[in-house]
Amino acid sequence: MKGIVLAGGSGTRLYPLTLATSKQLLAVHDKPMLYYPVSVLMLAGVRDILIISNPDVVPHIQDLLGDGSRLGLNISYAEQKEPRGIAEAFLIGADHIGHDRSALVLGDNLFHGAGFYNVLQRETRAVDGCTLFGYSVADPGRYGIAETDDTGRLLSICEKPRSPRSDQAITGLYLYDNDVVGIAAGLRPSERGELEITDVNQEYLRQGRAKLVPLSRGYTWMDCGTHDTLTAASQYVQVIQERQGVRVACLEEIALRMGYIDAEACYELGARMWQSDYGRYLTEIAHNFAAHTVA
Ligand code: DAU
Repeated sequence: MKGIVLAGGSGTRLYPLTLATSKQLLAVHDKPMLYYPVSVLMLAGVRDILIISNPDVVPHIQDLLGDGSRLGLNISYAEQKEPRGIAEAFLIGADHIGHDRSALVLGDNLFHGAGFYNVLQRETRAVDGCTLFGYSVADPGRYGIAETDDTGRLLSICEKPRSPRSDQAITGLYLYDNDVVGIAAGLRPSERGELEITDVNQEYLRQGRAKLVPLSRGYTWMDCGTHDTLTAASQYVQVIQERQGVRVACLEEIALRMGYIDAEACYELGARMWQSDYGRYLTEIAHNFAAHTVA
């Protein structure tokens, strides 16, 4: 499966924070926002990742993540000239996807929760058509909304409905078979001039090949697109990390635990940042991992 992180857009809702930098490079507590969606792909076992962003932002993301090899990943980059819609990711990423299946994650989405790894592993293996992840929210008018019957079967999908038929938001993580490239190529821009991801999902639904996996309240899903949600996400990460003593979306740790890099490589990545708590955390977990592995 190939991964795509869509990290473009104008970030206008975050002005003036985003006047001089991109939304996805802003901090969510101790790490750049982009770490959170990349961690989702890594936990899903997806190592071949395309990051799409605005032409002026791509070089900065490259400075941050490089070619991914230090994390045992293969990261490539592509430009989206204008924010012409989420579904454009499949046109820009068509060569990257090739004949494979794909996982798209939005660059401002944060997922967290015990067992999320298992959900990701199970669903990426099982994908046949499209798999969406639902999350119950208090403000359904802000999202793509899924309506299901009593058995959980998906009945309808609607983008930012005025009168929502449910409170199940469709999160910014989407799994597709290879047909997504052809479906995206056949889309017409919506009234707001965008290639809508909801139109892609509605086409799968029309074909009877769309599935919704509800994420229960044991999970956390947030987007970081406004000042309030950005602050809430930072506070959430800070509280969890301080209380549990483990880091959320720590890419180097995930690479180590997934077997993408060894303890020595993880230690070196930490040692380069020894001045920060984050760097020292890495050296510690690498040390403990090596000791545990030897024993
Ligand atoms: O977060 C989940 C929601 O994301 C879904 O429930 C909605 O169905 C989906 O349309 C989307 O809604 P948003 O209102 O959050 O979409 P937004 O236009 O803010 O774009 C989401 C992210 O994708 C944002 O970080 C910017 C990036 N983006 C967006 C567009 C339209 C791009 O990189 N390029 C684009 O062309």
